[in-house]
This record gives sequence, C-alpha cells and structure tokens, in this order.
Amino acid sequence: MDLSRRAFLKIAAQTGLATPFLLGPSGCAISITDRFDSNTGLSLNPVVGDTTADGAIVWARAEPESSVAIEYGKDPALSVSMLTPPVPVAAASDSTAKIALSGLQPSTLYYYRAVVTAKKPGPIARFKTAPSPDDPTLVKFCFSGDTRESYKPFTIMDAIRAAEPDFFVHLGDTIYADRGGTASKLQEFWAKYRANRDDAPSRRLFSQTSLYLIWDDHEVRDNYDQENPLAAIGQKAFLDYWPLRRDPTEPNRIYHSVRWGRGLELFLLDNRQYRDRAHGSMLGATQKEWLLEKLTASTATFKVVASSVPLHGGGADRWDGFPEERREVFQWIRRKAIDGVVFISADLHFASVAEIVRHPQVKEIVIGPMAAPLNSLGVGYSRNMEFFNNKTFNFGMMTFDPKISPPRMQLEIRDETNGILYKTEIAPS
Ligand SMILES: [Fe+2]
Repeated sequence: MDLSRRAFLKIAAQTGLATPFLLGPSGCAISITDRFDSNTGLSLNPVVGDTTADGAIVWARAEPESSVAIEYGKDPALSVSMLTPPVPVAAASDSTAKIALSGLQPSTLYYYRAVVTAKKPGPIARFKTAPSPDDPTLVKFCFSGDTRESYKPFTIMDAIRAAEPDFFVHLGDTIYADRGGTASKLQEFWAKYRANRDDAPSRRLFSQTSLYLIWDDHEVRDNYDQENPLAAIGQKAFLDYWPLRRDPTEPNRIYHSVRWGRGLELFLLDNRQYRDRAHGSMLGATQKEWLLEKLTASTATFKVVASSVPLHGGGADRWDGFPEERREVFQWIRRKAIDGVVFISADLHFASVAEIVRHPQVKEIVIGPMAAPLNSLGVGYSRNMEFFNNKTFNFGMMTFDPKISPPRMQLEIRDETNGILYKTEIAPS
C-alpha cells in the first residue's frame, strides 16, 4: 500500500466513507473496500482449501504487519484445541497469509478460527478432511463457476451451504477483472477479490466447508492469451487470494489431484497458463502427461476432471480450439479402458449434461453461472444433450456411496433455491 492510498483510506475511514473507490481505465468504479476488524485484526473471513486426508490450507487476511495463527480442533467450541505457529501477513500479497494445517485425521470434521497476535480470536468455522483412499464413506460435493461482483449477493451460495457438501469446487471466473470496472494494476485485481469475498452468502458457505479452485479467463481478461501482459498479475492475485497449496519448487502450479475416499479422485486442471497455440496444446506437455498418467494410475471408482473450459461448445478459447489434444485425451481414456471419467466445466453460462460423441463412457457436465449473465445464445447447443438449461443460476452436486452395488454416482443440477433441475445416475462404465 503506498502512502497516498493509505492516507486516502485514513481520510475515508475518518469521514465514515466505508467503501472507497478507484476509477479503473474503463471509467467504472472499482470498490477497494479495505477494512480490518479492530477487535480481531482480521479482514474478511478465513477460507479453507486444498483439503487432503491429513491437511488443509487456511487463507487469512489481517492487519498489515501482524501475524496470524490458526486454532483448530475437533471440539465445536475449541475448548480443546491446537494452535499453529503465527505466520506474518505479507504486504506483497495484500496482507494475506496461508497457514498449513497438518497431521489431521481423515474423514473428520474440524473446527478452526484465526487468531491475530494480541487480538481477540475470529469466528469459529469448520471443514471436513478427506476420507482415506480405502474408506468407503459416502462423499458429496458441489461445483459451479462464474461469480461477477455486480450480481452480489451471491444468494446461490446459501443454497449450496444448505446442501451440506463435503467440499465445494469453484470452476473459474472467481472474479471478473474486466467487467464492472476493469482491473489493470495488482491493487485493483486484489480489490476485485476483496469485493467478492465481502459477500454474506459466500462467507456463510466458506465457513462451513472447504474449497478447491481453478481459474479461467476472467481472472485476467476475456479469452486472454498467454501473451497478455496482465496474465502474470492476474495469476498472482488469484494465488494471493485463494487457499491454494503452493509447491515450493513450482510456486505457480495450480493443477493437482486429490483423493476423497474409495470412490473419488478429483483432478483440477489449469487450462490457462500452459497454453501453446503453436503446438495445439491447452494443457502443455507436462500437465498433459501428468493427467494421462494419474488417470491411468487412479484406483478411485470415479475420476472427476475439473476443466474451466468445456470440451465442446465452440470457440477457440475452449477445447474446440485444441482438437488434437482433446482427441489424444479421449483416445487414451478409451485405449487404457479407464472407467468412471467425468468432466465438469463452466464458462458457457448454462448448464448441460452430455455424452461425448464416439466416447460414450465419458460424460461432460457443464455448470453455472452462479452469479453472472445467463447465455441466451446457448439454445443451439441443446441438441444431442440429455439436459440443457440457460434459464437459472445453477450448481451441480455429485454424491457417491461406494457401498452401493453396482456402483453409480448421483448427479443433481440445482437452482439457487435448491430446486432440482435435473437428476440422473452415472455408472463408471
Ligand atoms: Fe464466466
């Protein structure tokens, strides 16, 4: 924060102006709401993500130059608890910190709160750890994409919370950097995240479950290419503001997989930063090899692959722009006889369920938006689909109970009142 902005914020606070604004290049105001609770020292609520069977990452934001620790335990009141060492928030990441919890027990409900040094603890929230790979526990999760600030409050988050998922997957367009005020500087990208995080339904959902995240184009610019000079800034802000586990040897890596019990392995793709048009690759060679090998090696009944852009739907920005690599992935799945592969994606701003032509063992579920314009032009895509809806905001929910035989996953697509728009069962083969 530079001195002039700090002075501006001080004046804004003294005059009771709760939400100061910057003017973006488009002329629209970008909210730079930047308040810290004087009792807790926190700004916004902590968010938990990248949960595994034995760990999780807690994201928190606290007063500049403070340190934040996480108190956690299995007791809802935290009367018996553990405390992580305090971690200083970093000015270079907008006073945020990521605190790793480790040594957790699988398939267990944990409660936690952030504690800023010398301040009152923040509110207690909770999340569940993943079951171990041999655990036949029922797993239920929700997923969707597209949260645009001007559509706040994101009321669909309350519907997702009411569905009580074990975790939630945001499939990208977590902000719209180029809508409703265009972010060009890092501070403006950060402000976009703060604005979306400062949303009551989102805060309620994020206090009850953990998240997995991938990014799409609007974290930078609509359908941007890697040459876009804002790509690195947009990626930094995304990494600063979400609870992503960072690999010290590959700090910008976003793609990874996580196992949830006997039934499920979730593959989270990065469809943006490794694009190589000259070689027709969306994933880049390293990520593609990783995906093919991990799919082959997975012993989970269902392998759910989260791709921010859909396999079909037209446009060079989607998999239709990379047909050879898409064909290679499908042919690998067929040749290796990999059962239970389901693709989930967003981006099209409508919901649909379809089988992949010539690869009927692979389903594609397109979901969203949660809070962004609906795609009124998408009607043409409804052909050859078993389900299509571009009338309401929506999210998907998958439930799999490995104890049921023969194995099948239940898929529901729901609206923002938890009304069921579509329900079906998916067999692994
Ligand atoms: Fe979107």
